[in-house]
Amino acid sequence: MNPLPRLQKILSETGVASRRHAEELIREGRVTVNGRLARIGDKVDPSRDHIKVDGRLVASPAAKAYLMLHKPKQVVTTSEDPEGRAVVMDLVKARVPRLFPVGRLDYDAEGILLLTNDGEMAHRLSHPSFEVRRTYWVKVKGKPAPEEIRKLSRGITLEDGPTAPCRIVPRREGRENAWLEMTLREGRNRQVKRMWERMGYPVLKLRRLSFAGLSLGGLKAGEYRHLRPAEVEKLKKMTQERPAKGGT
Ligand code: URA
Repeated sequence: MNPLPRLQKILSETGVASRRHAEELIREGRVTVNGRLARIGDKVDPSRDHIKVDGRLVASPAAKAYLMLHKPKQVVTTSEDPEGRAVVMDLVKARVPRLFPVGRLDYDAEGILLLTNDGEMAHRLSHPSFEVRRTYWVKVKGKPAPEEIRKLSRGITLEDGPTAPCRIVPRREGRENAWLEMTLREGRNRQVKRMWERMGYPVLKLRRLSFAGLSLGGLKAGEYRHLRPAEVEKLKKMTQERPAKGGT
């Protein structure tokens, strides 16, 4: 078994303070572990112990975090971009170790993006067998006919296989473009764009309105917030059991 880490190490890993500052906090009597005043060198189990600084619970590295971000356009859904473009992690100031995005949104797409350090949950939310719903607001070049919309919603075949049935609701038409709302239960790479391209209607704008029943509410592009406990519970329930019909 790994030896338990020292308290000051955990405090610095959670971003509360540097190692040295963490020692000062402990010396000043501002840190408690399970309600007892901490001492320098105390060993802690971050997955069990309640560590508080100035009476406030510190997020431990083992604690799971769930955030929603309104990803703006011109931002890459990664932690680092070799081309030096802005990345979603630059936007999140929460000091949560090992946070990563659930799935991805294209560079030129905007909308809701979940971030977590819960690998199992992220995997399940992205896995096709859980059929997690994603709703998009799509602007296409051209005006698809009702029959074409029906065809696309029944499913078409792309290079990586047939698409599952989806819901498409036409919302608005201009002289040269159309706006539609589209709900998918799968999330393949560039799927929405590829579906419309195949039908001859290139996507001009793409915004994800909701993911797994969560929507942005008042969050503006670039803003984020922690999910509320009830929202996390809902996600957990949704991903607890694999749907009976399964899939790959
Ligand atoms: N479909 C796309 O084509 N792009 C996205 O970013 C998300 C879904």
